[in-house]
Amino acid sequence: MQKKIRLAILGSGNGTNAQQICEYFASNENIEVACIIYNRREAYIAQRAAQLGIESHYFNKRDFEGDAVLTYLREKEADYVILAGFLLLVPDNLLQAFPSRIINIHPALLPKYGGKGMYGEHVHKAVIANHESESGITIHVVDQHYDRGTTLFQARCTVTPQDTPDSLAAKIHLLEQEHFPKVIESYIRENQH
Ligand code: GAR
Repeated sequence: MQKKIRLAILGSGNGTNAQQICEYFASNENIEVACIIYNRREAYIAQRAAQLGIESHYFNKRDFEGDAVLTYLREKEADYVILAGFLLLVPDNLLQAFPSRIINIHPALLPKYGGKGMYGEHVHKAVIANHESESGITIHVVDQHYDRGTTLFQARCTVTPQDTPDSLAAKIHLLEQEHFPKVIESYIRENQH
């Protein structure tokens, strides 16, 4: 049997996207989740990993700046790195080791509302403060800048005057849940040919 393509998921927070990706690929013939890496000790993503029976590992900022994370990813034989609510800038050594093989999800329609400091509820607050009529998600290949790199997919939702950061976050999570695992799967499939 051919070896499966192995994903390493990186996250910093709640881990809903990580969980959806793990569940989606649990019965996949070609792709599997190898590990979850997180960079905040208290992040709930670690509990989700345990519940899902997926190996997880905490690394601090200095580990990311050195070789510790890359060494771990090689040990786990990761083929792709998936950023699922991961809030650090991806260091050069990882970008070089995984060229066009690091994928991020951003909770807005990039290039709007991207860049350093634009994550999670900060994005939704800014979208609402600017009275936008729509928002959405962007799934993109990662390069050395925050929230840049080739866009693979966008999906939209409406923003109403009644929306709060929480209600908008809920709409965005539904889009993430519906699309992120499928976009990962089709990107990998296209890359293999
Ligand atoms: C998600 O909405 C994701 O798009 C966003 O953080 C949330 C993480 O939720 N990512 C960013 O803002 C990246 N700049 P989760 O931990 O429950 O998956």
